[in-house]
Amino acid sequence: MQTRAAVLWEPHTDWSIEDIELDDPKAGEVKIKLAASGLCHSDEHLVTGDMVLDPEIAALLQVEQFPIIGGHEGAGEVVAVGPGVTSLQEGDHVVLSFVPACGRCPSCARGRQHICDMGAVLLAGRQISDMTSRHRSKSGKDLGIMCCTGTFSPYTVVNEASAIKIDDWIPLDKAALVGCGVTTGWGAAVNAADVQAGETVVVIGLGGIGMNAVQGAAMAGARHVIAVDPVEWKREKAAVFGATHTAASIEEATAQVGELTWGANADKAILTTGVATGDLIGPMMGLVAKGGRGVVVAVAPISQEDVKLNLFDLAMQRKELVGCIFGNANPRRDIPRLLRLYDEGKLKLDELVTNTYTLDQVNQGYRDMRDGKNIRGMIKY
Ligand SMILES: NC(=O)c1ccc[n+]([C@@H]2O[C@H](COP(=O)([O-])OP(=O)(O)OC[C@H]3O[C@@H](n4cnc5c(N)ncnc54)[C@H](O)[C@@H]3O)[C@@H](O)[C@H]2O)c1
Ligand SMILES: [Zn+2]
Ligand SMILES: [Zn+2]
Repeated sequence: MQTRAAVLWEPHTDWSIEDIELDDPKAGEVKIKLAASGLCHSDEHLVTGDMVLDPEIAALLQVEQFPIIGGHEGAGEVVAVGPGVTSLQEGDHVVLSFVPACGRCPSCARGRQHICDMGAVLLAGRQISDMTSRHRSKSGKDLGIMCCTGTFSPYTVVNEASAIKIDDWIPLDKAALVGCGVTTGWGAAVNAADVQAGETVVVIGLGGIGMNAVQGAAMAGARHVIAVDPVEWKREKAAVFGATHTAASIEEATAQVGELTWGANADKAILTTGVATGDLIGPMMGLVAKGGRGVVVAVAPISQEDVKLNLFDLAMQRKELVGCIFGNANPRRDIPRLLRLYDEGKLKLDELVTNTYTLDQVNQGYRDMRDGKNIRGMIKY
């Protein structure tokens, strides 16, 4: 069929909105009619070159990462089912999980679906089953799809491992947010930081991910949730999601946390800035109490290796520094679970969407993100 998509032909260019050809789903695949797609900062990392595969690794995977259709935070309806699909049928409502969850690999089997073995091909952007493309440009060029989903298009074809069936009375434009931002942020607090009732938690960076870390920490019963961002209106908005205090910088938060905890410092700190850089790690761990934990959620430039960190302090104060992908969640369990919390009024989704856009306005959406105007921007189809 013919459809449209926002395609990035190479880093450091705008998204190009163009007509594309989409094939029918092959074995184990489904075609989805999308209702909405969130504008996550991770797609921006393709534009800035932060998340561009090393040419040697791309050669090993035998793929070209570009051109690629962006978007990995979507929800919609199954409109066609390929041979052998067992978990879905036409008409099902699904959230696309930005990490596939096969359910059978060693990681999935031990309850770590966020590191499913199928995730190995996430940046290759091809169909998981055979590493070929179902998406093609008008000129006949194979197109990759971001995180094996490609939600910057009203239609896509994905492996059934990437599509999670949800209750069909949940509004799909709200459900889309759970495909990345909500699960990532909420899970960073609830799973990765393992926030306990009465703890002090600092969240650094208040975008679509950070606001959900604030929301998760508050839901887990934190006593103080200190929300940090240079953008004033985001700090004000953080109270809606459960922040008890705000600070404009890590430095300001350090002084505040010292006072609030009588010098004990924060039990947990969560890094959700637009870009993770090595110089942020030391100051983040400086916020953390002895025995406490720092969680890195933000994505760093892919080849960055330098980190500023006091190693004496790390060992002698028994601190933990951990990474976190997709909120360390199990999408097959957690996506429907989070949406039921929304359904019961316990999880905020409506308040996350600041501005909505058409597919043609995707570049404007990302300008607004860079300018600090959005918690989450969203394309509606
Ligand atoms: N680990 C994962 O699984 C995962 C999943 C999704 C997104 N991410 C990453 O999480 C990060 C956040 O994504 P987002 O969509 O929320 O981005 P966003 O751009 O919407 O929000 C980032 C926020 O950080 C703030 N910020 C920037 N520098 C700061 C600093 N030094 N101190 C305090 N605040 C600062 C910005 O003002 C902005 O409000 C990105 O790096 C994204 O790629 C990671
Ligand atoms: Zn994302
Ligand atoms: Zn798996």
